[in-house]
Formats: sequence, C-alpha cells, structure tokens
Amino acid sequence: MERTPNYHMTILSLFVLPFIHLIVTVHCKTQHTVLRQSPPDDQFKIAVFADLHFGEAASTDWGPQQDVNSTKVMSTVLDHETPDLVVYLGDVITANNIAIPNASLYWDQAISPTKARNIPWASVFGNHDDAPFEWPLEWFTGTGIPPLLCPSANSSYPVEEACSYRGTPRLELMKHEIEHNELSFSKNGPRDLWPSVSNYVFPVSSSKDPESSVMFLYFLDSGGGSYPEVISSAQAEWFRLTSQKLNPDLRVPEIVFWHIPSKHYKKVAPKFGIQKPCVGSINKERVAAQEAETGIMDILVERTSVKAIFVGHNHGLDWCCPYKKLWLCFARHTGYGGYGNWARGARILEVSEQPFSIKTWIRMEDGSVHSELVLSS
Ligand SMILES: *[C@@H]1O[C@H](CO)[C@@H](O)[C@H](O)[C@H]1NC(C)=O
Ligand SMILES: *[C@@H]1O[C@H](CO)[C@@H](O)[C@H](O)[C@H]1NC(C)=O
Ligand SMILES: *[C@@H]1O[C@H](CO)[C@@H](O)[C@H](O)[C@H]1NC(C)=O
Repeated sequence: MERTPNYHMTILSLFVLPFIHLIVTVHCKTQHTVLRQSPPDDQFKIAVFADLHFGEAASTDWGPQQDVNSTKVMSTVLDHETPDLVVYLGDVITANNIAIPNASLYWDQAISPTKARNIPWASVFGNHDDAPFEWPLEWFTGTGIPPLLCPSANSSYPVEEACSYRGTPRLELMKHEIEHNELSFSKNGPRDLWPSVSNYVFPVSSSKDPESSVMFLYFLDSGGGSYPEVISSAQAEWFRLTSQKLNPDLRVPEIVFWHIPSKHYKKVAPKFGIQKPCVGSINKERVAAQEAETGIMDILVERTSVKAIFVGHNHGLDWCCPYKKLWLCFARHTGYGGYGNWARGARILEVSEQPFSIKTWIRMEDGSVHSELVLSS
C-alpha cells in the first residue's frame, strides 16, 4: 500500500478514454497442461502469497534478511498445504527500492520456493512491482547521499551505468517470468488493456474430465506504481465479454484475484474487531482502496457465478466479509517486506467438485490454522 498523489486522476482519464475498441482474446497457453483437481478426493487447492516485497532495502543488512524470512514463510506454507497452484497476489517485489535494471532477479527469488516444489503459479501486479526507484528523503539530510550499492557495477560498468532509476516495467517483468518458467500460468493480457498487464483467465478442470471446467480463475491488474490504482472500464468490459463467452449460462463458479481492494471493501469493513458474518483474525487498519470504481464491481455483483474476490495490499487486514452474494476477502501478509509486523501467513482456498464447495482458511508461518470459512457450497 502506498499513498498516491492527486494527479493520478488526470492520468486516469487519459488512459481510460482511448480504450474504445475491445478485442476479446482468450489466450490459451498450450505449452503446459491444464490445471486439474487432484484425485482421489477431487480437490483443488490454492495458496495465496500476498505482499512479499522482495528486494526491499536491498543495500541494508536487514533487507536481504527479510527475503530469507519470506522464503521460509512460503516454504512452511507449501510444505503444510501442498497446493495445486500458488497465486502471487501483487507486490511481489518492492521495485521502488531496487536501483538496478534487473528487478526480475528478485521476482525469481520470490517464486523460487514454489518452482522448487514443481507447483504451478500465477501472478498479478501490485503497486510496488514496477515503481521507479525512490530516493528516501532522509538520504538528502545529515551527511548526504549514502553510497549506492548496485550489484552489477564493476570497472567496466560504473555505478552510473549499472544503476537504473527507471524501474523495470510490468511487461518486462512478466516477459521474464513467462519466458523462464514452464510452470507459470501468468500472462501479459490483451494488448488493448495495457498499461494494465496481468489480465487473464484460466479454468480448473475436473479430475475426471479435462474438458469440463470446475471453476474459472480470473486475474486483474489493479494498477499502481507506473500508473493509477484502478481497474479501468476497459478491463471491466474485457471481464464482462470474456466471462460471457467462456461461461454463458453461469454454470461454472468464478473467483477473481487482484491486488488493491475496491472501494466496496470499505462498505463491508468491520468497525471494531471482526464480527459475524465477517471471518478473520486481524482488522488493524483502514481499507486502502483503489482510486476510482469504473464498473467492475457492478458486473461482478450481477454475475451470480462469481463467488469471491481476493486482494492483498493492506497488510493489517485478513478478513472475508459478504457483500450482496459475493465474498470480499483479504489474503494475509506473507512477506517480511513491506510495512507491519503482524505474524505472516497465507490464505488457502480449497475447491471440491462434488458436492461443490470453496473453503478457505489462513495458514500461519508457525504452522497453525485459523479463520476457516465456507465461501460457497
Ligand atoms: C526474520 O525472522 C525472525 C524470526 O521470525 C525475526 O526475529 C527477524 O526480525 C526477522 N528479520 C527481519 C529482517 O525481518
Ligand atoms: C543483477 O543483480 C544481481 C544481484 O542481485 C547480480 O548478481 C547480477 O550480476 C546483476 N546483473 C545481471 C545482468 O544479471
Ligand atoms: C561488469 O558487469 C557487467 C554487467 O553485469 C558484465 O556484463 C561484465 O561482464 C562485468 N565485467 C567485469 C569485468 O566483471
């Protein structure tokens, strides 16, 4: 989460207006097999890793130590749960602290525990993933600007050339992830939706019949970093047309992942503590919502097949609350990077086919489990 200046609204109208022509393309990645429920119990389990913030304060002693800690959290969760898929729910890296052009190396570190266990994954962008390098104000006080630590600097590449302050753009980060990883289900999304990049969908198939979809997983880029924190009307329209095409009779349940909560999360947020029907364990801060709402929520609410939305961004919130017939859920801060010292964990989703249900709970770094809830049955 990051406070955003007001000029973003002006940029927003510039970005949204040109998206008049929409081409609906459902990109099918053919180089790897479809995701299927695992026999014998026909379940499909997803672990959600939110706000890892790899590469934060890379030049300090504690920055890299955070990443070691975050790797440990992920490993613990993966070993307890053995999920069929991992969702990286944005702010995978803290790019505004990475003064080198190769932010993808930190991204690689973040996905390595999943990759090492041969578990497929999918990622969406958060507001910290492609931010330009920021000079903290305190660097300009006291003794002045401290020496920069740019890992690729050497005699032929002096610091000025080895450090890039422009940040690594979303397309470049995603290109690197996809090109180097057969197990990645992530996509660059339809070109018409750029600069929002991680917009895509894929089905989870039945263990009995790979042609039959048990659920659709949608991923949307909620912006931030290099452009405003918003889901554009063009993205909303892409979702509407794509879901109509893939699931015209609303028979197959759908769930949606993005990074920054929509304003509707504010409407359902518990005031003090967490009371039923909300379920969760921490409610320590105000919802830091997207800057504007341009239609995605209306579409999701109306579509009876959509069961839940999952977001990260707020490290001090881990609840799920109902909104109309939808569940609005936070994940759980997984990384040691980013603000806040609440114990780390990961939201888990378990989808059963017959009878259909989506269950969720939170698995903590110490192995404990809490906040179990049935989101749909
Ligand atoms: C790493 O984790 C340990 C144990 O949880 C903690 O004491 C330590 O402060 C963490 N280090 C950082 C830099 O977050
Ligand atoms: C990128 O950064 C890493 C350290 O994080 C460094 O080892 C590497 O040489 C850098 N440059 C390239 C092009 O990989
Ligand atoms: C200096 O760093 C660059 C970029 O990482 C690398 O291509 C080059 O081989 C390095 N040169 C030396 C002498 O280490």
